[in-house]
Amino acid sequence: MAITITPLSERFGAEISGVDISKPLDEATQQEIREAQDKWGVTVWRKTGLDDAAHVAFSRIFGEVELAPRHPGKPSRMPEPELFDASNLDIEGNITDNASIRLGAAGNRLWHSDSSFMDIRAAQALLLCHEAPPHGGPTWFADTRSAYDDLPQEMKDKLEGLEATHSYFWSRRRAGYPYTEEEVDAKPHATHPVVHTHASGRKAIFVGAHTRDIVGMDREEGRKLIDDLIAWCTQDKYTLAVHYKPGDMTIWDNLCTLHRGGEYDDTEYRRDMRRTTVRAAGQQEVARDHYTTMFSAAGDTPFSPSEETRKRVLETL
Ligand code: OGA
Ligand code: MN
Repeated sequence: MAITITPLSERFGAEISGVDISKPLDEATQQEIREAQDKWGVTVWRKTGLDDAAHVAFSRIFGEVELAPRHPGKPSRMPEPELFDASNLDIEGNITDNASIRLGAAGNRLWHSDSSFMDIRAAQALLLCHEAPPHGGPTWFADTRSAYDDLPQEMKDKLEGLEATHSYFWSRRRAGYPYTEEEVDAKPHATHPVVHTHASGRKAIFVGAHTRDIVGMDREEGRKLIDDLIAWCTQDKYTLAVHYKPGDMTIWDNLCTLHRGGEYDDTEYRRDMRRTTVRAAGQQEVARDHYTTMFSAAGDTPFSPSEETRKRVLETL
């Protein structure tokens, strides 16, 4: 079955139609979808008709679907262990008033690449809308391949061979969560190249809100470079927004895009978004449940804060 690809801009983003992804797909169609994804970086799917199980099943065409982390004291709303909850809802389905979770979620409104804080990175993320605020509660995306292409040669030379550290807890601090620099020091980090070659053969910049320091560079200088690169990648000419109605889904390639959740009043409007995450190829040997392992090694997290951190969260708000 040939799919229909409608580009959203010249080099980045496409809406896909003409295929029912709630049903099993033949190999040729799966291949067409993977190729469109590699080429366009972000694909948008309207009125998918996917339920939770079909969302997970469709995600498998891209590779190994990750297990979402399980947090002590925070059971998931959904029975499927592969679904990450990107909503503002609690286990009963009501708008959450949990201050730690709300402040933690503010980190998703900074430009980031999912899971860059893990040794094993995420290749694709599939975010399905179940309920949206009236204005569509968008996600914003940035094209880090075109941003790399357009860098001055001098900057490309400077970035060659550089590596950076990434931590989930750093991006929470950036968004106002009350961790100290020393607390973030003691929590897990991953290290990745600042520029890498994407499956498409094009190079991409790989820094975002989780990126903390440039390895071997003075901290101030490294952080300035990280901020400059994020600002470069997120210029208007590299970005687009996707607005949702229930049933709509976006798939983004985490290795060649940045994204951020758009602003909305999370105390007023329900926004039920559920995500699957596909592990980068060739790394299947690592522990299947590595997200849970990472968060449990971190101890005090926004999902299970210590009593002391919980007090600081309340003082912060
Ligand atoms: C995510 C995320 C943004 C959004 O699920 O990884 O960043 O718009 N979501 O919900
Ligand atoms: Mn994200």
